Amino acid sequence: MNDVIPFYGTQDRKMFAIERSSMDRQGKVIDFLNKHLPPGLILDVGAGDGYTAKRIKNADVICLEPSAGMVNFSNNRLWAKGSAESIPFHDNYFDAVYATWAYFLPGIDKSKGLGEVKRVVKEGGTIIIVDNAGNDEICSLASNLIAEGPEFYLENGFSAYYIDTSFEFESIDDALTLMKMYFGDRITKENIKLEYEYKVVAYIKNMVTVQPNEA
Ligand SMILES: C[S@@+](CC[C@H](N)C(=O)[O-])C[C@H]1O[C@@H](n2cnc3c(N)ncnc32)[C@H](O)[C@@H]1O
Repeated sequence: MNDVIPFYGTQDRKMFAIERSSMDRQGKVIDFLNKHLPPGLILDVGAGDGYTAKRIKNADVICLEPSAGMVNFSNNRLWAKGSAESIPFHDNYFDAVYATWAYFLPGIDKSKGLGEVKRVVKEGGTIIIVDNAGNDEICSLASNLIAEGPEFYLENGFSAYYIDTSFEFESIDDALTLMKMYFGDRITKENIKLEYEYKVVAYIKNMVTVQPNEA
């Protein structure tokens, strides 16, 4: 397999744990997924350590992850090795497929990835892709572009839902550690904060809405 995009979390699990617990600490993205994913068999593409998959209710989630360094077998989910561009399952297999912050990685072939996702999802199955939305405090700190426009998804028949959330750190030390890694000298002890505005977009195709008593 040659389409693994290098990701820092593979080498630094502690740092990734800080990121994952602070990013959308309020759990708005998880709530959105639980509201719009159908019950049944679901694939999480680029699952990381399974942080999101572990929190999906009322469904059997399989975590697909290309990097052995990210996998966490203790999270009570099934795991498969593979990438967005090459999904090791047969056609029409899943009731839904989602990806959280895996498609924005520079280098991912989104068209190939979407082709694969469409192949493995059943006819009319739900697809949800979660990504950075941009135009927020986090993106304004980045010197490179860390959010793309919605064009690719809209052209491919997705609808876009915007979720206002935040990075919310447990301590100033955690905030300094992660924010310095991402934004270098822009972050200092003098300007560090515990909370940063963060906007997320969920692109969704074939939306279902699960009633609260089903979730
Ligand atoms: C930012 S992390 C997100 C992890 C997880 N989805 C979450 O929400 O916590 C991106 C993940 O994508 C994985 N990745 C790298 N190349 C990939 C590819 N070609 N297809 C799918 N995932 C990939 C990385 O190994 C990493 O685990």
